[in-house]
Amino acid sequence: AIPSLHEVYKDYFLIGAAVNPTTLNTQQQLIKKHFNSITAENEMKFERLHPKENEYTFEKADEMMAFAKENGIQVRGHTLVWHNQTSDWIFKNEDGSTVNRERLLERMKSHINTVMERYKGQIYSWDVVNEAVSDSGSNIFRDSKWLEIIGEDFLDKAFEYAHEADPNATLFYNDYNESNPEKRDKIYTLTKGLVERGVPIHGVGLQAHWKLQSPTYDNIRQAIEKYASLGLQIQVTEMDVSFFEEGDKRTDLLTPPDDLLAVQAERYQMFFEIFREYKEHITSVTYWGGADDYTWLSNFPVRGRKNWPLVFDENHNPKKSFWNIVEFNK
Ligand code: G3I
Repeated sequence: AIPSLHEVYKDYFLIGAAVNPTTLNTQQQLIKKHFNSITAENEMKFERLHPKENEYTFEKADEMMAFAKENGIQVRGHTLVWHNQTSDWIFKNEDGSTVNRERLLERMKSHINTVMERYKGQIYSWDVVNEAVSDSGSNIFRDSKWLEIIGEDFLDKAFEYAHEADPNATLFYNDYNESNPEKRDKIYTLTKGLVERGVPIHGVGLQAHWKLQSPTYDNIRQAIEKYASLGLQIQVTEMDVSFFEEGDKRTDLLTPPDDLLAVQAERYQMFFEIFREYKEHITSVTYWGGADDYTWLSNFPVRGRKNWPLVFDENHNPKKSFWNIVEFNK
């Protein structure tokens, strides 16, 4: 028999999957059996919830919340303040000019309040700020309207507003390339500043969009230890293990070759060994999808290229990667 993934991990951490309105149907049985946490892949992002200043569109997010409630599944919130998928109206005055700091802070607060109030007590963790750190160069911050208009304390404010809105939710800073030493140190410096200023941040989200050859296990351990040294929880928020390294543009793989599936399974085994080792710090592990029939990585960043980054195959059957992460206690 196939064990339930979240039951296997009940003494460790929650096991999550990102879902969308389509996969909530097509992967419903799989989700109910294996996952005790879900995250909206897109439906709780700013542009989806708040397309106009006085118009909120909660239908899809509400449907997901209802599904979670009916099935006793917990929910992670993603995401409140991000440079991407954010409606442009928030940065503009009625005449099209750029808003000032005060007005943007008011709008940020109002968005955070409205969204978090609606789901208060039903979302255990929120990605309050997503991807604010730059990938290269010496700047800590990525360029964004939030940074330009408000200044570097836009994160402090976002976390303060979020904590006021739902004092029981744990609040996360979430980013990718989180295990790359250079970016890790920037994320560390940023979150350390927040902690030292008494800003209500409770955790760092490791997106964990990983690959067959990178990052190294050592870099992952060091990232976890560094963030945890600040007294912050760790959640793995968007995990997948892509078949392709950066720059690999080949589109000739139509089905996943066995040798690569085996490498992926080895990688998954080691990743989860590390997660179990750090279970005092890690409170949930979420995949960015349920099974290989739907993944954001098919077609991205290379059009026409398929990818198989999850632990269930296109027919929702367990892959070797699945067996490698459940068989540790035998
Ligand atoms: O819904 C529209 C559809 O109406 C339209 O026809 C189509 C044309 O391109 O676009 C559809 O929207 C797309 C949406 O996904 C839903 O599929 C957007 O173009 C596309 O940009 C969007 O991509 C999402 C991406 O975030 C955008 O940044 C991915 O689904 C989603 O998986 C991805 O998730 C992010 C996390 O939020 C943050 N971390 C990285 C992660 C992966 O990129």
